[in-house]
Amino acid sequence: MTEPIPTASRPKSVWHNWITLAGAIIAAGALFSFLFLLALDVIGQARSNPYLGILTYLVAPAFLILGVLLVLAGAWHQYRHREQSPAARPHRLSIDLSRPGDRRTLAWFAVGGMGFALLSAVGSYQTFHYSESVQFCGEVCHTVMQPEFTAYQHGAHARVDCVECHVGAGASWYIKAKINGLHQVYGILRHNYPRPIPAPVTNMRPSRETCEQCHWPQKYTGDLDKTRSHYLTDDKSTPFTVRLLVKVGGGSPDHGPVGGIHWHMLTLNKVEYFATDPQRQAIPWVRVTAPDGHVTVYRADDFKGEPNPARIRRMDCMDCHNRPAHRYSTPDAAVDEALYLGRVDERLPGVKRTAVDLLTKPYPNQEAGKIALESGLRQHYPGKSLEGTIAAVQAIYRDNFFPEMKADWSHYPDNLGHLDSPGCFRCHDGKHLAVGNRQKMPATDCDTCHTILAQGAGADLARVAPAGLRFKHPSSNIEGTGLICSDCHNGKNQEN
Ligand code: HEC
Ligand code: HEC
Ligand code: HEC
Ligand code: HEC
Ligand code: HEC
Ligand code: HEC
Repeated sequence: MTEPIPTASRPKSVWHNWITLAGAIIAAGALFSFLFLLALDVIGQARSNPYLGILTYLVAPAFLILGVLLVLAGAWHQYRHREQSPAARPHRLSIDLSRPGDRRTLAWFAVGGMGFALLSAVGSYQTFHYSESVQFCGEVCHTVMQPEFTAYQHGAHARVDCVECHVGAGASWYIKAKINGLHQVYGILRHNYPRPIPAPVTNMRPSRETCEQCHWPQKYTGDLDKTRSHYLTDDKSTPFTVRLLVKVGGGSPDHGPVGGIHWHMLTLNKVEYFATDPQRQAIPWVRVTAPDGHVTVYRADDFKGEPNPARIRRMDCMDCHNRPAHRYSTPDAAVDEALYLGRVDERLPGVKRTAVDLLTKPYPNQEAGKIALESGLRQHYPGKSLEGTIAAVQAIYRDNFFPEMKADWSHYPDNLGHLDSPGCFRCHDGKHLAVGNRQKMPATDCDTCHTILAQGAGADLARVAPAGLRFKHPSSNIEGTGLICSDCHNGKNQEN
């Protein structure tokens, strides 16, 4: 006699359990939300809101994955459970394609699996894109990134994505940036982040792999004609303009004469330096390696000892162009510009002085600043029509001063000049001497980097001198004082 086939009722499928059911509900909900939000994004409704992006590409996929994991965990749990009860032993998993039920299950499984793989591919591609978007970098952590984001929108790179400079191409920097990003998100959740955010960014990728992907370093730029308009702090806000021919030049013999400011672009030369402060504002030691291997070291006389080799930095674009995307105007420069554009009414007596003074005062937050600026101007000029001037000064404040993050010009000096911070004079101040022959570092005379074509106002300004003029400082004679510009100028009003 053959043994009777066990008649025990077929055990419950491994998929029949509460954990799996809960997982399936979560996954279905997340899938629906994802598709819905994706549709919104595709038809362009979600663009304006940074948080919708987070929901679509980070939160919904996370829940979908959680749901699927729960489904699998429930099934696994059920399977283990059954393994332990001996009654169920004989039912080992077997697939038999001759059974229609098995064929159906398998077909469903294949279709479902493919669909899921496709969706995850689209989803992860979009998640990747989203996590690289200007919106994600600039708007999600609103307060923290507001200063950089605002300044960025007013710069030449407003159409360049944050990640083009901050991450660049390649998987390893992407992963580095994301790990760093997680650390930052944690800091933000705990309200524990530095204000202002420290600059320079110490782990910034070298400009060779970012800036130079768009800007070809061999390009010969030649001379640039720049006009800088200023106004004095007297009652008439007397204009004082400088027109300079900036000798930018180039650094590659194949594309023009090598020389000028972009000599440092260093397609040939290598310049390294050591800074004693984290902001890289004090540079007492510089080393140049010429194409033929000849090495020259320049030292500031008051620097004793040797630089820490681990902190020697190779100079690149960002040592001069350190604010290509986030430039915070000084109160002085911002008011000069508003006067030049006619936004601030130049007929108001001493308006340059007054506006700069008001902007220089500390305010607890942007809203308080806005109110104080208006009342300050009204107090100063009772009975005058001030609407345009108030709006202009408030706009300057909104775009350049961020008290909540302590971000403004005074914390983020611009190195591309030498007026309000040492900039080029960190090295070219005439006090860096070559070790050995004690020669001055080249490019310290006023007309090596630029020639002044015209200066002053009115008829003076109209007289252009191609051979260049001596700089006529508007207040006192500064020649022979041994002072550099930033010993007096700091973006605020000067004491006369
Ligand atoms: C053209 C290149 C470029 C782009 C585009 C760019 N940055 Fe920057 N960013 C820089 C450089 C260079 C620095 C380092 C400044 C320094 O070394 O002093 C910097 C510094 C920063 C800092 C540190 C604080 C500071 O102001 O120095 C933050 C935060 C920042 N960027 C955020 C952003 C965000 C957000 C975006 C997009 C909205 C963005 N950046 C786009 C080049 C760029
Ligand atoms: C994705 C391409 C891209 C990258 C990366 C990039 N730039 Fe630019 N940059 C541009 C474009 C485009 C312009 C011209 C904008 C215009 O004139 O409207 C520009 C303009 C400039 C200018 C002249 C305008 C001005 O007055 O600021 C400078 C200087 C500059 N970039 C420096 C840098 C530096 C330094 C970096 C690296 C930190 C960098 N760029 C990275 C695309 C890029
Ligand atoms: C001894 C201090 C001192 C030094 C050093 C100095 N300045 Fe001035 N500068 C002043 C004063 C004071 C004024 C007049 C401010 C006013 O009336 O607006 C002034 C005005 C100016 C102005 C026009 C108005 C403005 O504030 O923008 C320019 C431009 C200027 N200086 C450029 C320079 C440059 C460039 C250097 C370095 C080569 C330099 N200054 C060095 C004190 C100084
Ligand atoms: C030694 C400082 C220094 C270094 C290093 C430097 N630049 Fe410049 N660059 C300048 C100055 C100064 C100007 C003129 C800006 C002005 O007067 O407004 C300039 C101008 C430019 C311009 C504008 C040209 C135009 O036609 O308007 C671009 C673009 C630029 N630099 C890109 C770069 C890139 C990319 C690098 C790195 C490979 C670099 N620079 C390295 C100082 C420097
Ligand atoms: C980190 C130090 C450092 C900084 C900052 C710096 N330079 Fe230089 N620069 C040098 C060195 C070093 C040399 C070459 C010295 C030599 O020839 O031995 C040089 C050379 C030059 C030359 C002469 C190039 C030639 O034709 O031989 C010019 C022009 C120049 N720099 C302009 C600038 C300007 C403009 C700035 C600011 C935007 C600036 N530098 C910032 C270190 C610096
Ligand atoms: C190492 C190169 C270098 C040397 C040396 C140098 N400058 Fe400049 N200077 C610059 C650069 C770069 C700028 C910024 C150009 C711009 O505004 O686009 C500048 C800007 C200026 C401006 C215009 C500032 C403004 O915003 O209106 C004046 C004025 C000026 N320099 C005067 C001088 C005088 C006077 C000397 C001699 C004591 C001198 N410079 C030496 C590189 C140099």
